Amino acid sequence: MATRFSCKFLFYALLFLLSCSSLQNTITKVKAFPLHTNGRWIVDEEEEGKRVKLACLSWITHGLAVVAEGLSKQPLGSITERIRPMGFNCVRFTWPLELAINESLASFTVKQSFHNLGLFDDVKGIQAHNPLILDLTLIEAFQAVVKSLANNDVMVILDNHCSKPSMCCSETDQNGFFGDKYFDPELWIKGLTKMATMFNGFTNVVAMSLRNELRGPRSNLKDWYR
Ligand SMILES: *[C@@H]1O[C@H](CO)[C@@H](O)[C@H](O)[C@H]1NC(C)=O
Repeated sequence: MATRFSCKFLFYALLFLLSCSSLQNTITKVKAFPLHTNGRWIVDEEEEGKRVKLACLSWITHGLAVVAEGLSKQPLGSITERIRPMGFNCVRFTWPLELAINESLASFTVKQSFHNLGLFDDVKGIQAHNPLILDLTLIEAFQAVVKSLANNDVMVILDNHCSKPSMCCSETDQNGFFGDKYFDPELWIKGLTKMATMFNGFTNVVAMSLRNELRGPRSNLKDWYR
């Protein structure tokens, strides 16, 4: 019994190590940005276009405070430097549309944003772990995270997750489909354009996901294709 158990364990341990090493091979550093597509593949700018596989984790900034989660727990750099060793080369970095189009929101400082929500412990946590972030505006703090990811060779997909800062997603949150109370298609395009322009010079920003999970009572294929 014990032998069988340890054989089985060994088998899975080996399988794990093998899959890690093959993953590591495909998650090598990208040398030539920007990325583009070639048929079904994502490739880089090297001659012939070397294939790039994205292994992304999600990192949330679309919540009520509009600050990347975790900064009250760990220094930014110590979070971003752990991403590659875990086998990822990319972050799907979420943002609410209002961060791009609502200037009064975007110009709150991190400290103000948490204060407004009565989250004083988070202010203390950020003061302790990321004092330089505390007085940045929300949009500056967002950029600081993207820069820190760049310093650690981590690619970024800017993910427009919702319009109103909130925990996504419900069928009735009015953030779900073109024409919903909080989903004006023109403002949406304005926000995507603004974000794309703002990050134009950041070579590690390789893509955008245009909107998370279209849904809700208004959702229909006609508007979707339009
Ligand atoms: C912009 O953000 C502020 C602060 O969160 C909010 O009070 C205001 O309603 C927002 N404006 C719009 C047009 O959504």
